[in-house]
Amino acid sequence: MSEDLWTPHAPSNPEASIPGEGGGGGEAAPGSVTLIIPTFNEAGNIAELLSRLAGSLPARLPCEVLFVDDSTDDTPAVIEKAALDLPFRVCVLHRERAVGGLGGAVVEGLKLAGTDWIVVMDADLQHPPHLVPELVGEGERTGADLVVASRYIPGGSRAGLAGSHRIAVSRGATWLAKGLFPRALRGISDPMSGFFALRRPAATADALKPLGYKILLELAVRCRPAKVAEVPFVFQDRYSGESKSGAREGLRFLAHLAALRSATPLARMIGFGLIGLSGFVPNLFALWLLTHAGVHYLPAEIAANQAGVLWNFVLIETLLFRDRRRHRHWADRVGRFALLANADLLLRIPLIALFVARLGMEVLPATALALVTTFVLRFAATEALVYLPRGTRTARTGRTTRS
Ligand code: GDD
Ligand code: MN
Repeated sequence: MSEDLWTPHAPSNPEASIPGEGGGGGEAAPGSVTLIIPTFNEAGNIAELLSRLAGSLPARLPCEVLFVDDSTDDTPAVIEKAALDLPFRVCVLHRERAVGGLGGAVVEGLKLAGTDWIVVMDADLQHPPHLVPELVGEGERTGADLVVASRYIPGGSRAGLAGSHRIAVSRGATWLAKGLFPRALRGISDPMSGFFALRRPAATADALKPLGYKILLELAVRCRPAKVAEVPFVFQDRYSGESKSGAREGLRFLAHLAALRSATPLARMIGFGLIGLSGFVPNLFALWLLTHAGVHYLPAEIAANQAGVLWNFVLIETLLFRDRRRHRHWADRVGRFALLANADLLLRIPLIALFVARLGMEVLPATALALVTTFVLRFAATEALVYLPRGTRTARTGRTTRS
């Protein structure tokens, strides 16, 4: 990260370095904290936020504030102005492209932070600034790697969550996430919280592939912090401006859950199977439409199969192999996928005939066996021929791997 991205404001000692900046440049001060605050057009909240932080952070807590900004308004300039005469250092990293949204911004911040602790909070004062020392203090006291500010333990509440539909959505999302990740989210009553403290060694930023808002969920599932603690908090009203989340964030959240859940080859295989099964619906529906329109059943079978193929392709692209699409043009991927999916159709019929005529099997078990056989073959072939990056070395593990 180049230095000119940083805007230091340390009037008392301009030469003072960020505690352990960028993971290098010497040891971090014990108990030092980087506050990572993602901002997207939050100009109206900055002055109040920084002044409340200045009133909340004890002088003995070596602290810096890092805004990771994707704004299209004058938020960075407002931060620069408000940051003068503060007892802690304030930096702004403005991104030209908002890759990964809120979660992507936090991960950029994690990569830069070199302190013992990282605290992530929103800029709109829905997260009370006075709790920052309490989160870190709880972590130090209990030895936890992750301390979550929770709305769902005694003493906490979601007072500032506007409207009954948002409360229902938030509850449903929490329930879904906890159901899908019972082990990773054990001890976390509020995995949707955007307010938490994390010990820096527990943040293995390279493993993170955030998608949208739920950065805590991403961290809890991919980094698996060994010990978790919680502190209750009351979710406040927004101080100024409006929430940036909407229906699009909801869809991103579902895609994020699917990506997290299908991170292992076995889980991907199960997902592949479920999507394949769901493809029967558009397939049969198209077949019904075509035959009702008077098309002969054989060409109708072939055409209807394409409806299922398209359905499967869209779901597999967005849910299973989202992070492995870039090395091939989409038309190339559609072509390969369709070829394999139709080859499956061509293979299945002779296989069934073989099982019945040569091995004397009943039609039903023969069909079941052919389905399983072609399913396994198709999964292996799809992964190898469509989604395996050119050259088998992956940047993530640095090892040669075919998964
Ligand atoms: N850098 C960056 N890029 N920041 C963003 C982006 C983005 O694309 N989108 C939002 N932010 C910032 C906002 O400027 C704000 O500081 C913070 O992220 C939270 O955004 P809000 O739009 O205020 O979110 P919310 O109030 O709807 O949701 C919050 O509460 C939820 C709990 O109900 C977030 O903390 C969620 O993570 C949390 O689940
Ligand atoms: Mn908010």
